[in-house]
Parts: sequence; C-alpha cells; structure tokens
Amino acid sequence: MDRSEILEWLRDRKDYVSGQEICEHFQVSRNAVWKAVEQLKKDGYVIEAVRNRGYRLLDEAGEVYDRGELLSRLHTRRIGREVRFFRSTDSTNLQAKAEAEQGAPEGTVFLADEQTAGRGRRGRSWNSPAGKNIYFSLLLRPEVEPEQAPVLTLLMALSIAKALEEIAVRMHLPEGAHPLIKWPNDVVMGGRKINGTLTEMSAEPGFVHYVVIGVGINVKKQDFPEELQATAGTLEDAFGSAPRRCELTARILEHFEELYERYLKERSAAFCREEYESFLVSKGRTVRVLDPAGEYEATALGIDGRGQLLVRTADGETRAVYAGEVSVRGLYGYT
Ligand code: BTN
Repeated sequence: MDRSEILEWLRDRKDYVSGQEICEHFQVSRNAVWKAVEQLKKDGYVIEAVRNRGYRLLDEAGEVYDRGELLSRLHTRRIGREVRFFRSTDSTNLQAKAEAEQGAPEGTVFLADEQTAGRGRRGRSWNSPAGKNIYFSLLLRPEVEPEQAPVLTLLMALSIAKALEEIAVRMHLPEGAHPLIKWPNDVVMGGRKINGTLTEMSAEPGFVHYVVIGVGINVKKQDFPEELQATAGTLEDAFGSAPRRCELTARILEHFEELYERYLKERSAAFCREEYESFLVSKGRTVRVLDPAGEYEATALGIDGRGQLLVRTADGETRAVYAGEVSVRGLYGYT
C-alpha cells in the first residue's frame, strides 16, 4: 500500500473512514495505516482522527506538491505509474535521460518543484524558481521510426491545451481567454506563453531508444526576468487563480496517455489533427516562415500526419514546414 492510495480514498470519501475499513481494504495492519496517516500529516495534509469514527481529510487549502499527491490524483495505466520527485534538481530532462540510460521504464515521470539548470529550446535556459511552476519530464520508449517521434511533442501540447480548456470551461471564461497552441508546441493564453516543451531523443537509424518530453508550465504569479516580461504569462493571471499543480499535471498525463495509445497504433498525428487544429492559433491566419533559405509570408492551413505545419504561399503553393528547421512567427503579438 502506498500512502497516496489512502490519500485518494480519504479525498474521495470526503467523510470519516474507519481505520478498520482501511486495514481491510488494503490488507495491512492498523499500525501501518496509522504510520501512513502520520506521514501524510508530515507531508502537509490536515487529517483529523476521531475515536470510533476514523480518519477524515480536512480542507486542502495548502497545496501539496510531491510524488504522493500526484499519484493520488492520477488514473493512468502506464504513464506516470513511476514518479521520481525532486524538491530541487538541475533539470528533469537531465534526470530523465540519465535514468533512461540505466533502463528506467516507459512512462516514468520526473517531477520537480525547482530546477537549478532548467533547459529550454535552442540552448536557452528555462526560468525554474521553487514553489511556483510545474516542471516535469516524461520518459517514453515508443516502437516507432525516429522520423515519427516529433509528433509526440504535438501530442503533449494538445494534452496541455485540453487540460487547460477543461478549467476554462469550468470557470465559464470568455472565448478569448481559452488556451491556444502556437505550432508546434507552445500553449498561449491571453497572448502570453504559458508553457514550454523540450523534447529530446536517443535514436539510431530505424530505432528509437527513448524520448524525453520535458514540460515547464508557469502556474503562479511571479517576477519574470526582464527578457521574459513581454511574452511570458502565468495560469494564475489567465484564470484569476492558480490551479493545483499536481491535479493539473495528472489531467495532462491522462490526456497524453489516451493520445499516445492511439498514436502507437496509427504512428501519425492524423487521428487528432482536427482537435489539434481547433486550438491552433495561426490556422487561417498569415504567418511569417523564417526559412533559412529565405523568409516568406503564408497562410497557415493546419498540420499533416507528421505534425508539420501546412502553409499556402501567396502564389497558391502548399508547403510543409518542419519544426526545428524553421520557426514560424505570427504577426499578432506573441502568437
Ligand atoms: C522552451 O524553450 O520553450 C522549452 C522549455 C522546456 C522546459 C522544461 S521544464 C522541465 C524540463 N526540464 C528542463 O530542463 N526543461 C524542460
């Protein structure tokens, strides 16, 4: 029995649960239950114990962000069944890659509260203060061709957008305040970049050893460094209150698992093209393609099965734009 399982039970029941019932359910001793509850209290949960009634989880106003909290909220089959949590680490991508080399299983999640050397795309760093944001890396070992792996980054962007959309709908936010995806993988809210994804792969021709998808999401209000102030945003600003980090991470991983299972069967992004495009900020709009062979403006049409952006040039030609090779700049603020 993991103490996150007791936590999940107490949360779901919202009432007293007798020690006896917990013992019988998990087939453990009363002492083991008592110890687990004591540990949960140390983790920061407020649990009331009343003689003859049992245990009850009191309001969870203080946010707990750790392995047990994530596991207690996660309902997946293979994604996140193993979670490594770091109060502080250099970079969850680095941790994931190191453990991948040692044989860590597919689906392992590396979650951190702080990164001291958070890494962004194109060799940039990723702002990673403690207590504010989500930083996680997901280790995958998909049996696909290396050329098919870039789709995974789009699946993660879609998972994040779907999880945020659920919150936006629950909160009855106006249309303009809903999440959008800036191809290939940035999620944007209110014209500001909410998250970043860094996907790294170890492969040889025809074979993927592993893929690490690293996700950073700005959750609580914070002082961004000067160079990010014009573009970066937080979920607290977008929603008016900050969602619980573990809850949001769990929803993202659940959406990802669903998409990933389809992707493994179809090895293409075609099955989720429509849904992805429903979030695509540039669809039908003019974008500037920064092709090293020559920049040009074109209309974004959508994505193809490989996750490439399809654009129509002024002379009517349709071109596929590869992520990584060219970047697309919207002509509308950060989007
Ligand atoms: C970007 O530049 O937009 C991508 C940023 C990716 C940041 C995340 S945070 C978790 C994971 N660990 C890292 O060091 N980077 C990624």
